[in-house]
Amino acid sequence: MPVTVVIGSQWGDEGKGKLVDLMSEKADVVARYQGGANAGHTICWDDGERSEEFVLHLIPSGIFHEGTPCVIGNGVVLDPAAVLDEIEQIEALGYDVEERLKISHNAHLIMPYHKQVEAAQEAARSENTDDGAIGTTGRGIGPAYTDKFARRGIRVVDLLRPEVLRTKLTRAIEDKNAVLKGVYGAEPLDVDEIVEEYVAFDEKIDPYVTDTSQYLNRALAEGKHIVAEGAQGSLLDVDFGSYPFVTSSHPTAGGCCTGLGVPPTAVERAVGVVKAYSTRVGNGPFPTELTGETGEQLREAGGEFGATTGRPRRCGWLDLVALAYTASVNGFTELTVTKLDVLSGLGELKVCTRYRLPGGEETRRFPSEVETLENVEPIYETLPGWDDDITGAREAEDLPSEARDYLRFIEDELDVNAGRTSIGPRREQVLEGGAAAPAQAPAVAS
Ligand code: IMP
Repeated sequence: MPVTVVIGSQWGDEGKGKLVDLMSEKADVVARYQGGANAGHTICWDDGERSEEFVLHLIPSGIFHEGTPCVIGNGVVLDPAAVLDEIEQIEALGYDVEERLKISHNAHLIMPYHKQVEAAQEAARSENTDDGAIGTTGRGIGPAYTDKFARRGIRVVDLLRPEVLRTKLTRAIEDKNAVLKGVYGAEPLDVDEIVEEYVAFDEKIDPYVTDTSQYLNRALAEGKHIVAEGAQGSLLDVDFGSYPFVTSSHPTAGGCCTGLGVPPTAVERAVGVVKAYSTRVGNGPFPTELTGETGEQLREAGGEFGATTGRPRRCGWLDLVALAYTASVNGFTELTVTKLDVLSGLGELKVCTRYRLPGGEETRRFPSEVETLENVEPIYETLPGWDDDITGAREAEDLPSEARDYLRFIEDELDVNAGRTSIGPRREQVLEGGAAAPAQAPAVAS
């Protein structure tokens, strides 16, 4: 059986973690393909005996299913301290991690200087109004990917040989000190301290490290089903997002192949996770943003505060111009619509179907230049809302007709059906299908 890739269709925080957790029940392997500890995938469940909520930053969202192997692929930038901390916390909950977690030997490492460089860069950008701060998560993601592509990164495999690590680090740190001291006036870094710290990490990380691409391809050859988990969202993709207000990796479908080392021919399904409204953390254009009372209502009802940084998320109406664009870039074969319950009681609902460009022309095309995107005016269709609490629904048929019409509107505009609809944070609050009965929806994880 092939690969199913789960992709955020907006600016991240769509609820991918919850979906991947659910799909893990039937998956043979769950593999994360990009990003780093900037992600925050919240998993909530209540199995009758215990109720847990856990925010995963690096470890794939399949880890709470005993027996399911989880892979951190080569496309991820790994913060060793963060992954070890996460392993410890998950083991403290009684789950076995060592037997199941595999970390790519080719993954690049986040080094302490990546966070320092990032903080200095963001501070400098904030001072310069022509080049505003990105509003990053501060996890060193951008500088780590910069080093990777500049071919001066340190990889997991480098930890195996302390003398090689020392040589590479000495070179890297000379370079970083020149920038930190010379450009940003920051304190220089000490090589010995960092070598010692990372050699100590190696002793702990070693049991998890392997050639994960080979592992995954062997699994595919054995007919196993891999769920590939993306982090962030398509509109934060470094190529397809609202550049430069993006992350530094490829959350879009293509990132799955390069970030795991699996062939594109193995990817059979691309599930687009669509939050029923829009949110964004960090800076950058957001055409349907609601800065007044309705935005505040969405933030409160949806608990829209960053899972990694705690920052309040910016909230707005659903943007189908942006979604049609990401559906096309990713080739979604099905959608999962999440947080539909948050819209209950909001009154009439607006959905953006076109943008008015600064010259007055209307378009359904998502502009690629941030300068245009910042100045478009969203054109809305208004749909009737519903007042009923829908969190207790157990089948799509239980939803009020207005909620089903809202789902149908999304499906029709994007020309993709919803395989699932989520109406609350718990595992059982996921309905099979969208507006159509489940039997007419595309096949879901098996
Ligand atoms: P970075 O990924 O930390 O470099 O941040 C770049 C941009 O991506 C900022 O706007 C962040 O707020 C945003 N971002 C990074 N990770 C996430 C995420 O998991 N959810 C939502 N936004 C994110």
